[in-house]
Amino acid sequence: MAHEIILTRDGSHSILHQTFDVTYHSIHGAIQETQHVFINSAFRLKAIVQEDISILEIGFGTGLNAMMTYLEAKRLDKKVDYCAIEAYPLTMETIRSLNYCEEMACLEEQKSFEQLHRLPWETTQQLDHNFSFKKLKQQIESVAFDNQFDIIYFDAFAPNAQPELWELSVFKHMFESLKPEGVLVTYCAKGVVKRTMKAAGFIIEAIPGPPGKREMTRAIKPSPRL
Ligand SMILES: C[S@@+](CC[C@H](N)C(=O)[O-])C[C@H]1O[C@@H](n2cnc3c(N)ncnc32)[C@H](O)[C@@H]1O
Repeated sequence: MAHEIILTRDGSHSILHQTFDVTYHSIHGAIQETQHVFINSAFRLKAIVQEDISILEIGFGTGLNAMMTYLEAKRLDKKVDYCAIEAYPLTMETIRSLNYCEEMACLEEQKSFEQLHRLPWETTQQLDHNFSFKKLKQQIESVAFDNQFDIIYFDAFAPNAQPELWELSVFKHMFESLKPEGVLVTYCAKGVVKRTMKAAGFIIEAIPGPPGKREMTRAIKPSPRL
């Protein structure tokens, strides 16, 4: 078996990818990591100034980032267009075993969580009136959009596991995919990654990381007048 469900330190599950020997989330806490890196450091900031927010997620995986964004959009009553890229989907058997709704005390949303995974690929669907959702079964390297997204959740496996996903060509595609003043967030704070993002045109911010990690990276696409 290539995947194993593991328990992280905040009590939420993650997945160990046995081939790459890498986990889908921080072992210090999967829910905590998503809350800090993606929701607090990007989504909530955009939600202060925008009613409609478009998001591209690189590496859909368990769907935890999408689920927590859906819940936050509901709480804040914001409209979200969410597009998730995933080349190697997990099985429904694995998805049903994950304890995210239980840990977030929202078992009534388990159906929505499973729905994110059941929905057909390559078509836009409404999960509810606030949340429009599309999954693309594609390789990250081939993704290219044009000035389309307010936020990118860059959640690929770490550079030591999949260095090809952290190359300049990928970040150039990410840069082009964002609207001006769009924000890319990642848990990764490696110097070489920040320098590569800078070379792609981003303004880089090193900000405090989630529990167990000193720093993470927020990268901004400057608006043309800057
Ligand atoms: C760190 S995990 C993502 C965790 C995910 N955001 C979550 O909340 O569970 C990285 C994801 O990228 C996917 N992936 C790996 N290589 C890829 C590629 N070349 N193109 C697209 N997705 C890829 C993996 O299958 C995995 O789901």
